[in-house]
Parts: sequence; C-alpha cells; structure tokens
Amino acid sequence: MPGISRRDLLCSGVALSASSLIARSAWGRTTALLAGYKDAASAEALAAIAPREQLLFDFGWKFQFGHGTDPARDLGFGIGQGDFAKTGDFGFAKAKFDDSKWRTLNLPHDWAVELPFVNDDIQNSHGFKPVGRRYPETSVGWYRHEFDIPASDLGRRISVEFDGAFRSVLIFVNGCFIGRNDNGYAPFRFDLTDFLSYGQKNYIVARVDASFGDGWFYEGAGIYRHVWLTKTDALHLGKWESTVRTAVNGNAATLTLGTVVQNEGKQAENARVKWQILDAAGKTVATAEAAQQSIAVDGSASFTATAKLANPVLWSVDAPNLYSAIATVETAGKPRDAERVSFGVRTILFDADKGLFLNGKSIKIQGTCNHQDHAGVGAAVPDRLQWFRLGVLKEMGGNAVRTSHNMPTPEWVEGCDRMGLMMMCETRQMSSSPEGLAQLEAMVKRYRNSPSIIMWSIGNEEWQLQEAMAEEGAKIGATMVRRCHELDPTRVVSAAVNGTNAKGVSEAFDIIGFNYNLGYPDDYHKKNPKRPLYGSETASAISTRGVYTTDPLRNTLSAYDTNQPGWGETAEGWWKFYGTRDWEAGGFAWTGFDYRGEPTPYGWPSINSQFGIVDMCGFPKDSFYYYKAWWGKDPVLHLFPHWNFTGREGDEIPVWVHSNLDEVELFVNGKSVGSQKVPHLGHVEWKVRYEPGVIEARGSKDGKVVLTEKRETTGPAASIRLTADRTEIFADGEDLVVLKVEVLDKEGRAVPTAENSINFRVSGEGELIGVGNGDPNCQESDKKPRRSLFNGLAQAIVQSTKKPGEITIEAVGGRLTPGKVTITTKSVEPRPAVG
Ligand code: GAL
Repeated sequence: MPGISRRDLLCSGVALSASSLIARSAWGRTTALLAGYKDAASAEALAAIAPREQLLFDFGWKFQFGHGTDPARDLGFGIGQGDFAKTGDFGFAKAKFDDSKWRTLNLPHDWAVELPFVNDDIQNSHGFKPVGRRYPETSVGWYRHEFDIPASDLGRRISVEFDGAFRSVLIFVNGCFIGRNDNGYAPFRFDLTDFLSYGQKNYIVARVDASFGDGWFYEGAGIYRHVWLTKTDALHLGKWESTVRTAVNGNAATLTLGTVVQNEGKQAENARVKWQILDAAGKTVATAEAAQQSIAVDGSASFTATAKLANPVLWSVDAPNLYSAIATVETAGKPRDAERVSFGVRTILFDADKGLFLNGKSIKIQGTCNHQDHAGVGAAVPDRLQWFRLGVLKEMGGNAVRTSHNMPTPEWVEGCDRMGLMMMCETRQMSSSPEGLAQLEAMVKRYRNSPSIIMWSIGNEEWQLQEAMAEEGAKIGATMVRRCHELDPTRVVSAAVNGTNAKGVSEAFDIIGFNYNLGYPDDYHKKNPKRPLYGSETASAISTRGVYTTDPLRNTLSAYDTNQPGWGETAEGWWKFYGTRDWEAGGFAWTGFDYRGEPTPYGWPSINSQFGIVDMCGFPKDSFYYYKAWWGKDPVLHLFPHWNFTGREGDEIPVWVHSNLDEVELFVNGKSVGSQKVPHLGHVEWKVRYEPGVIEARGSKDGKVVLTEKRETTGPAASIRLTADRTEIFADGEDLVVLKVEVLDKEGRAVPTAENSINFRVSGEGELIGVGNGDPNCQESDKKPRRSLFNGLAQAIVQSTKKPGEITIEAVGGRLTPGKVTITTKSVEPRPAVG
C-alpha cells in the first residue's frame, strides 16, 4: 500500500457528529491515543526480530458443538475409555476427518453470546446462558484447523500459543494428544515441533469444555482470545524471560536488561545477547551486550546487561511514552532469535501518609474495575474494541483500571500502556496450589514490563482465607506474594479484601486494599500507620441508562446517583471518602462498564449488571459526568434528565447537574428557577414541575458563564442517524467501526426515549459482528442484524474483511428515513497469519 502507513490510518478518518459526545471525544481521542499502535507489526519491526515468526492463528477455524455427557455426540470422544491409550490415534485430528459441514469462523470467538437466554436462576450470575454441566449440548465446542508447515521449517521450534480460552481445553495435533489447560484466563502454549509433518498439511483440534466456570460473572465460552503459531530457531529466547527494569537517577535512567536463552538444538552453542533500545519514534537510543556463554544441548543460560538512557522521556497517564528493547541472541555474529519488549520509564511509590506518587508527583487512583465482555461480542472482544472501551474510561477522567477478577487480555494491557491508564492486574485463583501459582506466574511474567501495571493483585474477596481459614490464608498469601516478588521485585503486591484486613491473607501484602466497608480504612490507618491503603473495590452504584424512576416491575434503577446495594456507595459517596484523605491512594469503582450476569438487585429477565458507569455498549450513564467533573481536567456541565415526559405534565421532576464549575443557574422555558453553588465533589439539583419545552443550565466560573446545556422536548422520531467512530479503517479482517444509532425528530434532535426497532444491512467489505443497546433487560440477539433502541441509542459493530474497498451500513426502521454510512477500508499489510 504505497504512501500510507498504519500510523496515518490510525490518525485519520474520525467520523464526527457535532451532537455526539462520544464521537467527538472518546472515540476520536482513542484513535489519536493509539496512533502508531500497530507499528509493532510493521515491516521494520518484524525485520528486527527476523529469525522469529509469530503468526496470528485466528482465521478460518472450523467449529462444531460436541456434547458434555454423550460421547456419541462428542465426535465419539471417550466412547470406550481407551482414547488416550496410544499416541497418534485421534482420527478427528487427521487428514481424513471430514469437517466440511462444520461452521467456519474467525477467532476471537465466544459461543455463549450466540446462544439464546434461558430462564434458569442458577445461571443468573453468568448471564442466563445455557452453559454449564446441566447444558451438555451447548457446553462443549470443537475447533479444527488445517495448516501448512513448509519443509524449510524442519529444525525450528514451533509452538501454538493461546492467549486464553474458556475453559478446559484439550489439544490434539496430527492424531496425537498434546496437552490440556484448565482455567479460563491464563495463556498456555504447547511445543508442537515433534508432532508436525514438514512440507505437508497438519491438523490441530481443540476440544473446549465450558462445563465448569472460574467465576461468578459472565465468562463466555470458547477460544475468545488470539491464538499464535510461533516459530523460532532451536536456540531461542525463553518465553516471557526478557525483562527491562528501570531506575531513574536525576536526568538519566539505568536499564537492567535480562533474558534467558534455551538451547533445544543438537549441539552446544556459544551465544551472546545484544539489546537495542528504541525510543517511541523508533530511533536507537542505547545498546547493550552481555558476555558470551556456552549453552549445552537442552540447557539454558541467563544473560544480563545494563544500559543508560540520558534524559529519558517518562511514562505517565498524561504522556504514556514507551520505549522498546529488542533482545537478539547471536552465535558467531549471526542472529538466531529476537524479540521486542515494550517498556516505559517511570517511578511509582505508595506512601502510607501521602498516597500514591507517579514520577514523584502525587496522583490519586481514579479507577474502575471491569469485566471483559462487551455488547454484541461477549468475551470475544477484538483488539480495536478493547481500545475503544479504554477510550471511554479515559474520556471519563479515569486514570486506572483493575482487571477484576482475572488475568487480562494482552491487548487490554497494551492499550493501557499506550493510552496512559494505570493497572491493578489481578489473577483469578487465590491459591498457592500448582495451578494457582502457575496462573500467577504466567500473569507476572507476561506483563512485568508493562509500565501501566502499578500493582499485582493475588485475588478478590477470599473470605475463607480472610477469616475462617486465616492461618492457611496467611501461608497461601505469603507464598503468592513471595513468588510475585521473585519474578518482579519492582512492584507491590496486594489483593481486594472485603473485611478488616486484620489477619489471614492480608498479612503478607505490601499495600492494603479495602472492598466497600468505608468504616474500616480510618481505623486500620490509625492502627497501622505504616501501611499504604487504597480502595480495591468501591461503589457498586446501580443505575439504568436514561431511566429516571426506579421501577422494580420493569427491573430498572433511576440514573440519578441514588442507588446502591447494602454493601455499596453512590459515586458521590465513595469519592467524597477516597478523594479527601491524603493517605488514601484512591480507588477502583465497581464497575466502569456494565457486564453480563449479576443483575443485582433484580433477576430474570434482567441479563446484565447495572453497576456500570457506562452501559454494555459504552454509552455513558449520567454518573459518567460526575466522574468526568471531579476526575477530569476540562470544565463539565451535564444536565439531566431528558425533557420528554409526555403524560407527566405538572409532576415534580428532579433536575440534576454534574459540574465542576462554581455555580449553575437553571432555566425552564426561559425562566430562571435559581442559581446554586456547586459543592466540592458534589452536584446541584432542583425540583421542577414538568411542562414540555426546554430546560437550560448555565454554568459559571469566576462570575462568567462558560458552559450552557439544554434539554428539549422533542417530537416523534422521523429519521435514523448512524455515526461511526471512524470513516477509514484497515482492510485486515480485524479492524472495526463502532456505530452509534439514534433517531431524530423532524428538527434533527435526538429522541432520548426512542425504542424503535432498527434493521441493519451491511454490504461491501465488512461484516456485522454484533449489536447492542445497553438495556439490562433486553433479550434480543446480540448477533442478528436488528436491534431496538434503548432510550434513544443502539450500537452496531462492523468488522472489515481483508479486501480493501468500502463498507456500506444502512439502518432502516419502519417509516423512518433510513440512516446510511460508508466506511473506506484501506489496504494494509496484514499481520502475518496462518492460512
Ligand atoms: C463484590 C465482588 C464483585 C461483584 C460486586 C457486586 O463483592 O467483588 O465481583 O460481585 O461485589 O457488587
């Protein structure tokens, strides 16, 4: 694609609509923040690690359901108890097996989101999907892929690497059983070198069994993260062994570089390791080299070196500057293997009296906890959508995320590194069992170079280990903390604790996190003045976007910041606590996004949570602006509710404004109903008798009106408006556009209460991969090309094919004037991929 780089594409083509806040800000800003992101896949970057090939193994899988209890409906697997008796006997992973009737799909894939909802209370916390041991027909999935291995690969080490799959996976290659993985979040890999046929077709099969879950929230089902085929020299760098540790001294930084080289070849090797340090523009700013060592066959050796960076550009949430280190192992001057590690230079300090310091400057954690599913796609979130989600949180003024309650997807972490969000990175299982420690080890090794991560969390609310089994908890906690420190001496270790933190697992923590219970921290701080504290999980405020009365018959909760369960706090409630104590490092609200499952305080037909500050699509609820006002840097004036209350004329309606200005005056149909000073970390509100027309807020600072906002009573819906986050995307089969769907009245005003059903037609070089509307009670399909608006909004997600061209998205709904958007998909060198 002459003349156009990925950087150009990422920076350009933001479709803006003046009335669409998200399109104006979060979406556009995400694009800008990610500028250059895919440069890691550029020809230049790939050339730097040339002896190694990392192929995306996402495209063209075959898929079919198996069966959890009936072997006859599970490819005959396990029919006679003898399946594992001989190596090489699994026919379904051989050439002859006929998968022509299986469905073809691309990863990431979550089959749970494709299933209908079931009214089964046991599935409440998992989002009412028929997955689990009681649903054997829809709980086992088989994935199969044919792939070529050229004869020239003979002698290389070849591994298949899964970033994560839900949940129990058995892998077979060319008739042979290769291995298993038994959790839904940690990455796993298998060396296939001995099992491959070189110069021939090969067959890989994954049996994925979601009968058991790992958590109490929606977890999806299937291979919901990327898969890779990695080919290296037999003399190669160890997996996740390359580390870059930074120490800032005045105007310089010392980099301590380390890696491990493994020799799986047939002869001893004299190897040396060289490092090249690149700045964000790709310029070499330092080099280092470690002395040569001899490595025996089947042996390994550790290499270390140091490098100096003069005047390093630091990583921060406002300027997330990244460097990369290319580590290359050589013998006799010939590169044998190489990898690129991205890192940042920054300092982090948790102080028991003064809270958190980033690069020596005081900063509060303005964080949210998040699960990992999104409208339309469930747990199978494409990379671009991960970044879209982070963009929404960043737009709110968020500067941190907690990956509750599991190890995150790599692209989420990379997004935090790139976009400037700090992370509390959490493992799923709080246990020092081999499985628990393996999960923890994978997490720490995988992400320890990411500057965004400011602490490791070894778990969440393990009440047994906090109280009844406090003695065991203390030992388990100590082992896990020790392991984190061994693998990464640069970060503090903690966990999210819903108790007093007085004993048990908490004893070993470097910093203490409290979940809820605002009564505990003051007392704890008094008794333990040397231990830094933060809010590991707070809020759990509940609200339904665009709804202004709590109605248990409709399973809705008003979007005024007034609802929380017994253990929770409103937005204002928790931030007034954490935002005003110097010794608190800040905290993480439960949650940024709504997620499937946990429809507290309701049950069926509610299928997702209402804890989010934004809904399942990322559309802001009103509290979003509370946070934006007190977390962000820009002036904020957000007036709500809408002003479409036909039939409620004369009723008293609370009118709220979230603002960080000094004073706000409210007008109803041109008449002032009074001016109010905005309390610090608070909001202002009036009671207004409803009459159709217009309400207007005028916000002033230092006596001058600086922002105004209106809500007008609209007429009925007349036309559909589609707004895409970008008008140009990559034709790489991965990139996507996020479309906001609204209906407008005759005067072009968005109708905030609209519930029209909209049909989508996507033509050209793109595919609709999911739809949503943020309604916690909507059981329409996430996958069909239609969706009702919920309080005026719906979302459609459209992904490019690999062929450059145009995608036309049309939205039609009854007599409404249809909406239409055309997206250009630009030719780009796709990431190297299998098939
Ligand atoms: C917490 C828990 C979260 C979520 C939340 C709902 O106790 O850690 O996973 O369940 O409650 O309020």
